Amino acid sequence: MKRILLIAVALLFISSNAMATNHEIKPTMPNLSGIGVGKKLYDKNCAACHGASLRGTKQGPTFMHRIYHPGHHADGSFYMAVKRGVRQHHWKFGNMEPLNKVNQRMVSSIVKYVRFMQKQAGIF
Ligand code: HEC
Repeated sequence: MKRILLIAVALLFISSNAMATNHEIKPTMPNLSGIGVGKKLYDKNCAACHGASLRGTKQGPTFMHRIYHPGHHADGSFYMAVKRGVRQHHWKFGNMEPLNKVNQRMVSSIVKYVRFMQKQAGIF
């Protein structure tokens, strides 16, 4: 839905640009660069268990589940999970160990990517 809106807005810019004779209109697209960084970090550090495209594996749960809706697992739970690890409680995959190599700045990019993907999937 959001993508359709973006395309519609982009087309609007393009068509209004074509009609403008005297002044140039530069469309501004939303900045998605942070999400690219987050995806790389996710793929490297989380995907082995939480799955490519956040779909889960035999070793860990998918984030495309309402359990991980921001209202239920706020962003803070991601920082905590990486720093302290997670004791098995929602599923039967076992515990998640703390990930020392992933610092809090990296988590903030990862969270951005996770929320972006969840939003695309209509989780919230
Ligand atoms: C070795 C496997 C493994 C890796 C790698 C891993 N996780 Fe997990 N993670 C798990 C498992 C298993 C659970 C589920 C625990 C439960 O609720 O039963 C979990 C749960 C979580 C939760 C939910 C925490 C809560 O409060 O319920 C978050 C958030 C999370 N992981 C984030 C991450 C992030 C971010 C990364 C990458 C930086 C990552 N995990 C890497 C296995 C992993």
